[in-house]
Amino acid sequence: MTTLSTPGASLDVLLTPADLRAALERDARAGLSATPKWLPPKYFYDDRGSRLFEEITRLPEYYPTRTEHAILSAYATDIAAAADAEVLLELGSGSSHKTRLLLNAMARQATLAAYVPVDVSVGALRDAMSSLRTDYPHLPLHGAVADFDAHLALLPAPGRRLWVLLGGTIGNYPPAERAVLLAALSAAMRPGEAFLLGIDLVKDPKRLVAAYDDAAGVTAAFNRNVISVLDRELDGDLDPDDFEHVALWDAENEWIEMRLRARRPISARLGALDLPVRLDVEEEIRTEISAKFRRERLAEELTAAGLHVEQWWTDPMADFALVLARR
Ligand code: SAH
Ligand code: AVI
Repeated sequence: MTTLSTPGASLDVLLTPADLRAALERDARAGLSATPKWLPPKYFYDDRGSRLFEEITRLPEYYPTRTEHAILSAYATDIAAAADAEVLLELGSGSSHKTRLLLNAMARQATLAAYVPVDVSVGALRDAMSSLRTDYPHLPLHGAVADFDAHLALLPAPGRRLWVLLGGTIGNYPPAERAVLLAALSAAMRPGEAFLLGIDLVKDPKRLVAAYDDAAGVTAAFNRNVISVLDRELDGDLDPDDFEHVALWDAENEWIEMRLRARRPISARLGALDLPVRLDVEEEIRTEISAKFRRERLAEELTAAGLHVEQWWTDPMADFALVLARR
């Protein structure tokens, strides 16, 4: 593990660029050889992908970020009191923008000893930490470049932690993988630690589809960016413009599914894998699911992972919720 340090801030590198590249090689080979084809969503977030995601959060159609922000604005003090933690550890922290509401509330209670942002995207993590360094000059920052599918047990613990996973990111995991993640998280939590989870709730499919197929085409660019990541990292010759962005509501599974649909027959190659990539016209690659939740089902999933729900906060329209759970 490499640790980069400046006064008051450190960055543990649990996931090196070589590790990420090896995982991409494995996933690209498996996903693009499968029928139907798939790619995991964590490869969206190179520097450009992280910037596009931030743009998505400001779109009129994309309600989750602003709704979660509103819930945090209203209840951060209650959440901080209920969590009773010394350290805020955030999984998939991205820009750490909404997190500031929790940091402020924990600082007001004088319990806050450190912030631990954790992300697979080193660019997003560095930008967030440098901006936090300026705005919170006395707050110790212990960042970790890590994959929360692999490194939960190795994350810094400079005090009793409130683990947070905001934005509905848990919904990007299919049910079986979600159960694995929640169980690993529960196992990594120490006695007295709490978990705050942001979840998007089931609602009118028209609003859901619009949130993932915005009029300005930012989500389409975010989706196609994974093709640019494959080309750059694996010496590919796929053309992102050969793919149409697709977002649809799967009513049975209650998730949004994002796909990339071939506009024409594609015969390409990932040079680094010596892997031919062939798609028929209209053949699709599944690039992301974004599950939407109901209260009971989520409580059951948390219980199955050994976590019990202590409190629940939502907005007046019940679009989004924050759930506090403990082992
Ligand atoms: N929490 C922020 C960002 C959500 S975007 C918000 O609510 O707005 C999802 C974030 O999770 C991205 O920053 C992405 O880089 C990160 N991420 C996705 N998969 C990850 C993984 N397996 N391990 C660590 N970080 C991951
Ligand atoms: C990060 N995650 C919760 C986002 C979501 O809404 O599922 C990713 C995203 N995909 C398209 N738009 C946003």
